[in-house]
Amino acid sequence: MEITVPKHLERIKAYVPGKPISEVQAQYGITSPVKLASNENPLGPSPKALEAIRQALSYIHLYPDSHYRKLRQKLAEILGVTPEQVIVGNGSDEIMALIGQALLLPGEEVISPHPAFSIYEKVAILAQAEFKKIPLKDMAIDLEGILKAVSGKTKLIFLTNPHNPTGSFFDIFALNTFLNALPSSVLVVLDEAYVDFVSKERQFNSVELLSKFPNLIILRTFSKAYGLAGLRIGYGVFSKALVGFIEKVRMPFNVNTLAQVAAEAALEDREFLKKTQETIWSGRKFLTKELMDLGVKVYPSEANFILVEVGKQAAWVYEELLKKGVIVRPLANYDLPACLRISIGTPEENQKFLDVFREIWRK
Ligand SMILES: Cc1ncc(COP(=O)(O)O)c(C=O)c1O
Repeated sequence: MEITVPKHLERIKAYVPGKPISEVQAQYGITSPVKLASNENPLGPSPKALEAIRQALSYIHLYPDSHYRKLRQKLAEILGVTPEQVIVGNGSDEIMALIGQALLLPGEEVISPHPAFSIYEKVAILAQAEFKKIPLKDMAIDLEGILKAVSGKTKLIFLTNPHNPTGSFFDIFALNTFLNALPSSVLVVLDEAYVDFVSKERQFNSVELLSKFPNLIILRTFSKAYGLAGLRIGYGVFSKALVGFIEKVRMPFNVNTLAQVAAEAALEDREFLKKTQETIWSGRKFLTKELMDLGVKVYPSEANFILVEVGKQAAWVYEELLKKGVIVRPLANYDLPACLRISIGTPEENQKFLDVFREIWRK
Protein backbone atom coordinates (compact mmCIF):
# COMPACT_ATOMS: atom_id res chain seq x y z
CA MET A 1 0.00 0.00 0.00
CA GLU A 2 1.34 3.39 -0.90
CA ILE A 3 0.13 6.38 1.02
CA THR A 4 1.35 9.90 0.49
CA VAL A 5 2.11 11.42 3.87
CA PRO A 6 2.91 15.00 4.82
CA LYS A 7 6.70 15.15 4.67
CA HIS A 8 7.02 17.84 7.35
CA LEU A 9 5.75 15.41 10.01
CA GLU A 10 9.11 13.63 9.84
CA ARG A 11 10.64 16.62 11.66
CA ILE A 12 8.47 16.07 14.74
CA LYS A 13 10.29 14.35 17.58
CA ALA A 14 8.28 12.18 19.98
CA TYR A 15 7.44 13.88 23.30
CA VAL A 16 9.37 12.31 26.19
CA PRO A 17 7.28 12.54 29.38
CA GLY A 18 8.55 12.08 32.93
CA LYS A 19 9.02 8.35 33.72
CA PRO A 20 5.68 7.02 35.02
CA ILE A 21 5.52 5.62 38.58
CA SER A 22 4.18 2.27 37.26
CA GLU A 23 7.29 1.76 35.11
CA VAL A 24 9.63 2.31 38.03
CA GLN A 25 7.55 -0.08 40.14
CA ALA A 26 7.78 -2.78 37.46
CA GLN A 27 11.44 -2.18 36.55
CA TYR A 28 12.97 -1.76 39.99
CA GLY A 29 10.42 -3.46 42.22
CA ILE A 30 9.89 -0.32 44.27
CA THR A 31 6.37 -0.11 45.71
CA SER A 32 6.02 3.64 46.17
CA PRO A 33 8.52 5.67 44.17
CA VAL A 34 8.64 9.44 44.63
CA LYS A 35 7.91 11.22 41.36
CA LEU A 36 9.55 14.62 41.03
CA ALA A 37 9.68 14.60 37.24
CA SER A 38 6.61 16.29 35.77
CA ASN A 39 6.03 19.41 37.89
CA GLU A 40 2.73 18.06 39.19
CA ASN A 41 1.05 19.28 42.38
CA PRO A 42 2.54 17.32 45.31
CA LEU A 43 -0.63 17.88 47.38
CA GLY A 44 -2.88 16.11 44.87
CA PRO A 45 -6.04 17.70 43.42
CA SER A 46 -8.01 20.51 45.06
CA PRO A 47 -10.56 18.90 47.47
CA LYS A 48 -13.26 21.29 46.23
CA ALA A 49 -12.57 20.15 42.67
CA LEU A 50 -12.93 16.51 43.73
CA GLU A 51 -16.29 17.22 45.33
CA ALA A 52 -17.50 19.03 42.21
CA ILE A 53 -16.45 16.05 40.05
CA ARG A 54 -18.39 13.64 42.29
CA GLN A 55 -21.52 15.73 41.91
CA ALA A 56 -21.13 16.02 38.14
CA LEU A 57 -20.68 12.29 37.54
CA SER A 58 -24.43 11.71 37.26
CA TYR A 59 -24.75 13.83 34.14
CA ILE A 60 -21.75 12.79 32.08
CA HIS A 61 -24.13 11.13 29.61
CA LEU A 62 -24.88 14.68 28.43
CA TYR A 63 -22.54 16.66 26.20
CA PRO A 64 -20.55 19.32 28.00
CA ASP A 65 -21.42 23.01 27.70
CA SER A 66 -19.61 23.79 24.45
CA HIS A 67 -19.03 27.37 25.57
CA TYR A 68 -18.13 26.46 29.18
CA ARG A 69 -20.15 29.53 30.18
CA LYS A 70 -19.83 29.31 33.96
CA LEU A 71 -16.10 28.71 33.93
CA ARG A 72 -15.54 31.38 31.30
CA GLN A 73 -17.56 33.90 33.30
CA LYS A 74 -15.59 33.14 36.45
CA LEU A 75 -12.22 33.36 34.70
CA ALA A 76 -13.22 36.61 33.00
CA GLU A 77 -14.17 38.16 36.35
CA ILE A 78 -10.87 37.11 37.92
CA LEU A 79 -8.82 38.27 34.95
CA GLY A 80 -10.70 41.52 34.27
CA VAL A 81 -11.49 40.71 30.62
CA THR A 82 -14.71 39.83 28.77
CA PRO A 83 -15.77 36.15 28.76
CA GLU A 84 -15.31 36.05 24.96
CA GLN A 85 -11.60 36.77 25.39
CA VAL A 86 -11.05 33.52 27.27
CA ILE A 87 -10.60 30.26 25.36
CA VAL A 88 -10.46 27.08 27.42
CA GLY A 89 -8.75 23.97 26.10
CA ASN A 90 -7.88 20.35 26.77
CA GLY A 91 -4.77 21.53 28.59
CA SER A 92 -2.92 24.68 27.58
CA ASP A 93 -1.21 22.38 25.05
CA GLU A 94 -4.42 22.41 23.06
CA ILE A 95 -4.55 26.20 23.06
CA MET A 96 -1.02 26.20 21.59
CA ALA A 97 -2.19 23.82 18.86
CA LEU A 98 -5.23 26.03 18.14
CA ILE A 99 -3.00 29.10 17.85
CA GLY A 100 -0.87 27.25 15.30
CA GLN A 101 -3.90 26.11 13.30
CA ALA A 102 -5.62 29.46 13.34
CA LEU A 103 -2.78 31.93 12.98
CA LEU A 104 0.31 30.35 11.39
CA LEU A 105 0.92 29.96 7.66
CA PRO A 106 3.50 27.76 5.92
CA GLY A 107 6.86 29.51 5.56
CA GLU A 108 6.25 31.96 8.39
CA GLU A 109 8.74 31.99 11.21
CA VAL A 110 8.27 31.07 14.85
CA ILE A 111 10.92 32.09 17.38
CA SER A 112 11.46 30.31 20.67
CA PRO A 113 14.05 30.36 23.41
CA HIS A 114 16.11 27.17 23.51
CA PRO A 115 15.80 24.90 25.38
CA ALA A 116 12.08 25.32 25.99
CA PHE A 117 8.85 23.32 26.21
CA SER A 118 8.94 20.94 23.23
CA ILE A 119 5.35 21.56 22.15
CA TYR A 120 6.34 24.99 20.75
CA GLU A 121 8.40 23.32 18.03
CA LYS A 122 5.65 20.81 17.32
CA VAL A 123 3.15 23.64 16.79
CA ALA A 124 5.50 25.36 14.33
CA ILE A 125 6.26 22.20 12.36
CA LEU A 126 2.59 21.21 12.12
CA ALA A 127 1.89 24.58 10.53
CA GLN A 128 4.89 24.11 8.20
CA ALA A 129 6.39 27.22 9.70
CA GLU A 130 10.11 27.68 10.31
CA PHE A 131 11.30 27.31 13.88
CA LYS A 132 14.15 29.55 15.04
CA LYS A 133 15.76 28.73 18.40
CA ILE A 134 17.49 31.45 20.41
CA PRO A 135 19.83 30.05 23.07
CA LEU A 136 19.23 30.95 26.70
CA LYS A 137 21.70 33.32 28.33
CA ASP A 138 22.80 32.19 31.81
CA MET A 139 19.86 29.77 31.69
CA ALA A 140 17.36 32.64 31.25
CA ILE A 141 15.44 33.80 28.17
CA ASP A 142 17.54 36.20 26.10
CA LEU A 143 14.85 38.77 25.27
CA GLU A 144 17.33 41.04 23.46
CA GLY A 145 18.66 38.11 21.44
CA ILE A 146 15.10 37.22 20.43
CA LEU A 147 14.38 40.80 19.37
CA LYS A 148 17.53 40.82 17.22
CA ALA A 149 16.41 37.57 15.56
CA VAL A 150 13.06 39.01 14.44
CA SER A 151 12.84 39.19 10.64
CA GLY A 152 10.22 40.15 8.08
CA LYS A 153 9.01 36.53 8.19
CA THR A 154 8.53 36.36 11.96
CA LYS A 155 4.90 35.69 12.86
CA LEU A 156 5.00 34.39 16.41
CA ILE A 157 7.29 34.28 19.44
CA PHE A 158 6.94 31.88 22.35
CA LEU A 159 8.01 33.10 25.80
CA THR A 160 7.69 31.07 29.00
CA ASN A 161 7.57 32.91 32.32
CA PRO A 162 8.76 31.36 34.62
CA HIS A 163 10.74 29.39 32.08
CA ASN A 164 10.70 25.60 31.76
CA PRO A 165 13.14 23.82 32.26
CA THR A 166 15.24 26.46 34.06
CA GLY A 167 12.82 28.34 36.35
CA SER A 168 14.14 31.75 35.24
CA PHE A 169 11.83 34.77 35.35
CA PHE A 170 11.58 38.24 33.82
CA ASP A 171 9.61 41.17 35.26
CA ILE A 172 6.87 43.35 33.77
CA PHE A 173 9.35 46.08 32.79
CA ALA A 174 11.37 43.64 30.69
CA LEU A 175 8.17 42.34 29.10
CA ASN A 176 6.85 45.83 28.43
CA THR A 177 10.17 46.89 26.83
CA PHE A 178 10.16 43.73 24.72
CA LEU A 179 6.60 44.25 23.49
CA ASN A 180 7.23 47.93 22.76
CA ALA A 181 10.24 47.07 20.60
CA LEU A 182 8.33 44.48 18.58
CA PRO A 183 6.30 45.17 15.40
CA SER A 184 2.63 44.78 16.31
CA SER A 185 2.26 42.22 13.51
CA VAL A 186 4.34 39.73 15.52
CA LEU A 187 2.32 37.64 17.97
CA VAL A 188 3.72 36.88 21.41
CA VAL A 189 2.50 33.77 23.23
CA LEU A 190 3.34 34.23 26.89
CA ASP A 191 3.12 30.79 28.48
CA GLU A 192 2.50 31.27 32.20
CA ALA A 193 2.04 27.62 33.20
CA TYR A 194 4.11 28.24 36.36
CA VAL A 195 2.93 31.76 37.20
CA ASP A 196 1.33 30.78 40.52
CA PHE A 197 4.72 29.83 41.94
CA VAL A 198 6.40 33.22 41.48
CA SER A 199 7.52 34.70 44.82
CA LYS A 200 4.98 37.18 46.18
CA GLU A 201 7.25 40.20 45.80
CA ARG A 202 7.95 39.48 42.10
CA GLN A 203 4.42 38.67 40.89
CA PHE A 204 2.81 40.85 38.21
CA ASN A 205 -0.40 40.74 36.21
CA SER A 206 0.43 40.30 32.52
CA VAL A 207 -3.26 40.51 31.55
CA GLU A 208 -3.06 44.28 32.15
CA LEU A 209 -0.82 44.52 29.08
CA LEU A 210 -3.45 43.06 26.75
CA SER A 211 -5.26 46.35 26.15
CA LYS A 212 -2.00 48.00 25.06
CA PHE A 213 -0.65 45.01 23.10
CA PRO A 214 -3.38 43.15 21.15
CA ASN A 215 -0.66 40.91 19.69
CA LEU A 216 -0.11 39.38 23.16
CA ILE A 217 -1.62 35.98 24.08
CA ILE A 218 -1.44 34.68 27.64
CA LEU A 219 -1.64 30.97 28.44
CA ARG A 220 -2.31 29.44 31.84
CA THR A 221 -3.13 25.98 33.11
CA PHE A 222 -4.97 24.10 35.85
CA SER A 223 -2.35 21.32 35.66
CA LYS A 224 0.11 22.75 38.16
CA ALA A 225 -1.08 24.93 41.06
CA TYR A 226 -4.66 23.58 40.88
CA GLY A 227 -3.63 19.91 40.73
CA LEU A 228 -5.75 18.94 37.70
CA ALA A 229 -3.09 17.71 35.24
CA GLY A 230 -4.91 14.42 34.59
CA LEU A 231 -8.16 16.14 33.65
CA ARG A 232 -6.47 18.27 30.96
CA ILE A 233 -7.64 21.86 31.27
CA GLY A 234 -5.91 25.15 30.55
CA TYR A 235 -6.84 28.47 28.97
CA GLY A 236 -5.70 31.35 26.83
CA VAL A 237 -6.51 35.03 27.19
CA PHE A 238 -6.68 36.84 23.85
CA SER A 239 -7.31 40.33 22.57
CA LYS A 240 -10.69 40.86 20.92
CA ALA A 241 -8.86 41.15 17.58
CA LEU A 242 -7.47 37.60 17.76
CA VAL A 243 -9.95 35.54 19.69
CA GLY A 244 -12.43 35.04 16.83
CA PHE A 245 -9.84 33.13 14.78
CA ILE A 246 -9.22 30.70 17.64
CA GLU A 247 -12.97 30.14 18.08
CA LYS A 248 -13.18 29.18 14.41
CA VAL A 249 -10.76 26.25 14.77
CA ARG A 250 -11.77 25.08 18.25
CA MET A 251 -13.84 21.86 18.32
CA PRO A 252 -17.18 22.46 20.07
CA PHE A 253 -16.75 19.96 22.92
CA ASN A 254 -13.03 20.27 23.54
CA VAL A 255 -13.41 20.66 27.31
CA ASN A 256 -15.16 17.79 29.10
CA THR A 257 -17.75 18.31 31.82
CA LEU A 258 -15.64 17.02 34.69
CA ALA A 259 -12.75 19.29 33.77
CA GLN A 260 -15.11 22.29 33.56
CA VAL A 261 -16.68 21.77 36.98
CA ALA A 262 -13.38 20.87 38.60
CA ALA A 263 -11.66 24.00 37.27
CA GLU A 264 -14.56 26.17 38.44
CA ALA A 265 -14.38 24.68 41.94
CA ALA A 266 -10.58 24.87 42.03
CA LEU A 267 -10.76 28.61 41.34
CA GLU A 268 -12.89 28.93 44.47
CA ASP A 269 -10.50 26.85 46.54
CA ARG A 270 -8.26 29.68 47.73
CA GLU A 271 -7.14 27.65 50.72
CA PHE A 272 -5.76 24.86 48.52
CA LEU A 273 -3.97 27.32 46.26
CA LYS A 274 -2.39 29.02 49.27
CA LYS A 275 -1.28 25.70 50.73
CA THR A 276 0.18 24.66 47.38
CA GLN A 277 2.09 27.91 47.02
CA GLU A 278 3.47 27.69 50.55
CA THR A 279 4.54 24.08 49.96
CA ILE A 280 6.38 25.06 46.78
CA TRP A 281 7.95 28.22 48.19
CA SER A 282 9.29 26.53 51.30
CA GLY A 283 10.33 23.33 49.45
CA ARG A 284 12.12 25.33 46.78
CA LYS A 285 14.05 27.28 49.39
CA PHE A 286 14.89 24.14 51.35
CA LEU A 287 16.12 22.07 48.37
CA THR A 288 18.07 24.99 46.90
CA LYS A 289 19.93 25.59 50.15
CA GLU A 290 20.61 21.94 50.94
CA LEU A 291 21.89 21.19 47.42
CA MET A 292 24.05 24.31 47.35
CA ASP A 293 25.52 23.28 50.70
CA LEU A 294 26.57 20.04 48.98
CA GLY A 295 28.37 22.10 46.35
CA VAL A 296 25.80 21.46 43.60
CA LYS A 297 25.01 24.31 41.22
CA VAL A 298 21.33 25.24 41.54
CA TYR A 299 19.81 27.89 39.26
CA PRO A 300 17.42 30.44 40.79
CA SER A 301 13.83 29.34 40.17
CA GLU A 302 10.41 30.99 40.35
CA ALA A 303 8.69 27.74 39.32
CA ASN A 304 7.69 24.51 41.10
CA PHE A 305 10.97 22.86 40.11
CA ILE A 306 14.66 23.58 40.25
CA LEU A 307 17.36 23.06 37.66
CA VAL A 308 20.56 21.56 39.03
CA GLU A 309 23.85 21.06 37.26
CA VAL A 310 25.48 17.79 38.25
CA GLY A 311 28.03 17.51 35.45
CA LYS A 312 29.02 14.72 33.08
CA GLN A 313 27.61 12.05 35.36
CA ALA A 314 24.01 13.42 35.19
CA ALA A 315 22.69 10.33 33.37
CA TRP A 316 24.30 8.10 36.00
CA VAL A 317 22.87 10.21 38.87
CA TYR A 318 19.43 9.96 37.25
CA GLU A 319 19.69 6.15 37.02
CA GLU A 320 20.95 5.80 40.59
CA LEU A 321 18.07 7.95 41.86
CA LEU A 322 15.65 5.73 39.92
CA LYS A 323 17.08 2.55 41.44
CA LYS A 324 16.38 4.01 44.86
CA GLY A 325 12.85 5.05 43.96
CA VAL A 326 13.21 8.75 43.12
CA ILE A 327 12.17 9.89 39.65
CA VAL A 328 13.55 13.23 38.43
CA ARG A 329 13.79 14.61 34.89
CA PRO A 330 16.96 14.09 32.86
CA LEU A 331 17.49 16.93 30.38
CA ALA A 332 19.69 15.48 27.63
CA ASN A 333 16.81 15.83 25.18
CA TYR A 334 16.55 19.51 26.16
CA ASP A 335 20.24 19.86 25.20
CA LEU A 336 21.21 20.17 28.87
CA PRO A 337 22.97 16.81 29.37
CA ALA A 338 24.74 17.94 32.56
CA CYS A 339 21.50 18.97 34.29
CA LEU A 340 18.54 17.44 36.06
CA ARG A 341 15.18 19.08 36.72
CA ILE A 342 13.66 18.31 40.09
CA SER A 343 10.03 19.11 40.84
CA ILE A 344 9.32 20.36 44.34
CA GLY A 345 7.46 17.71 46.34
CA THR A 346 5.95 17.47 49.81
CA PRO A 347 8.45 18.01 52.68
CA GLU A 348 8.72 14.20 53.01
CA GLU A 349 9.36 13.73 49.28
CA ASN A 350 11.96 16.50 49.25
CA GLN A 351 13.72 14.90 52.21
CA LYS A 352 13.65 11.47 50.55
CA PHE A 353 15.17 12.93 47.38
CA LEU A 354 17.84 14.69 49.38
CA ASP A 355 18.76 11.62 51.43
CA VAL A 356 19.15 9.50 48.31
CA PHE A 357 20.95 12.26 46.41
CA ARG A 358 23.45 12.74 49.26
CA GLU A 359 24.32 9.03 49.19
CA ILE A 360 24.88 9.12 45.42
CA TRP A 361 26.80 12.41 45.53
CA ARG A 362 29.29 11.00 48.02
CA LYS A 363 30.15 8.02 45.76
C1 LIG B 1 5.97 25.49 29.92
C2 LIG B 1 4.77 24.65 29.92
N1 LIG B 1 3.68 25.05 29.27
C3 LIG B 1 2.57 24.31 29.24
C4 LIG B 1 2.52 23.09 29.86
C5 LIG B 1 1.34 22.20 29.65
O1 LIG B 1 0.29 22.47 30.39
P1 LIG B 1 -1.06 21.68 30.19
O2 LIG B 1 -1.02 20.54 31.11
O3 LIG B 1 -2.07 22.72 30.54
O4 LIG B 1 -1.17 21.26 28.76
C6 LIG B 1 3.61 22.63 30.56
C7 LIG B 1 3.53 21.32 31.21
O5 LIG B 1 4.43 20.74 31.72
C8 LIG B 1 4.76 23.42 30.59
O6 LIG B 1 5.87 23.00 31.20
